[in-house]
Amino acid sequence: MAPRKLAAGNWKMNGTLAALAEIDAILAQPAGCDVLICPPAVLVQAVAAKGIATGGQDCHAKASGAHTGDIAAQQLKDVGASHVILGHSERRTDHAETDAQVAAKAVAAHEAGLVAVICVGETEAQRDAGQTLDVISAQLAGSVPDCATAANTVIAYEPVWAIGTGRTPTNDQIAEVHALMRDRLAARFADGADFALLYGGSVKPGNAAEIFAIPHVNGALVGGASLKASDFGPIVAALSAA
Ligand code: PGA
Repeated sequence: MAPRKLAAGNWKMNGTLAALAEIDAILAQPAGCDVLICPPAVLVQAVAAKGIATGGQDCHAKASGAHTGDIAAQQLKDVGASHVILGHSERRTDHAETDAQVAAKAVAAHEAGLVAVICVGETEAQRDAGQTLDVISAQLAGSVPDCATAANTVIAYEPVWAIGTGRTPTNDQIAEVHALMRDRLAARFADGADFALLYGGSVKPGNAAEIFAIPHVNGALVGGASLKASDFGPIVAALSAA
């Protein structure tokens, strides 16, 4: 089984019910790849009801309990989600999430029947210090649980300095990290060659085709450019054609 191609939109804390019109526009376009929208939690049910694959942006590691403001994986599943983003750098920074917490959340996601989209990525200081490959290796080892398979886990490489900045790594830099991730997953998991590996960080209509041509890039996790179908549509088309 070759990795499935996935165009994933991460709406972050953007969008209200009015944004559902963007889903209609995305669905109107034929796609030759999987398309996933991860809206704010309050919109998961409405987006899923449109018939598009839908994901949360975080879940709690526990199945239920006294955790005010948190959401359990099973609750996302219950309202129609199939995926959940975990360990996004904004969660790691804003909420001090550790690799161990991300791994525990991934286990919870798997137990609920959700695909975990686990994010890794170096900061600019780490890249400048020549630590990128060590950082990514450590995050993969610590954030991806032993129960991960190509069917229940997607890995997204998102350099922190490329998120929302309009800056992207060179193609060689993306290729180097994706080859490392493929090697690490293949060494650890029987089906490590089949995990979908996404690139994320300032993916736009204008750079998508070039990024999708890089070996071991099986799709993208798209933030800002996923909010409008007029931007996300061309990215889906570029991945479909890749
Ligand atoms: P961006 O965000 O596409 O706006 O850079 C990507 C992400 O954080 O998932």
